[in-house]
Amino acid sequence: MGKNTIVICMGSSCLARGNGRNLEIIEQYLFRKQIKDKVIVKGTLCEEECTQGPNIIINGKIFHKVCSSDVEKILERELSIPEMKEDA
Ligand code: FES
Repeated sequence: MGKNTIVICMGSSCLARGNGRNLEIIEQYLFRKQIKDKVIVKGTLCEEECTQGPNIIINGKIFHKVCSSDVEKILERELSIPEMKEDA
């Protein structure tokens, strides 16, 4: 199985709409679950879907209007890491 990939839009519109905070949440989540080495996190400058932002793409699937309170739920569902640890 290949690595999971998260692409987070860092364009000004998505940043203003909350992707700065979303990125922090993603980093903390990967750290807490000890899966940082299994997930590639990349930034992109604009996905040309600004009005739908903030946008995050996980394994090729785009999520629009990602609210910081939903980030963890989305990661939980979309990342495929069988050995993912439960919270200690
Ligand atoms: S800034 Fe994110 S889609 Fe344009």
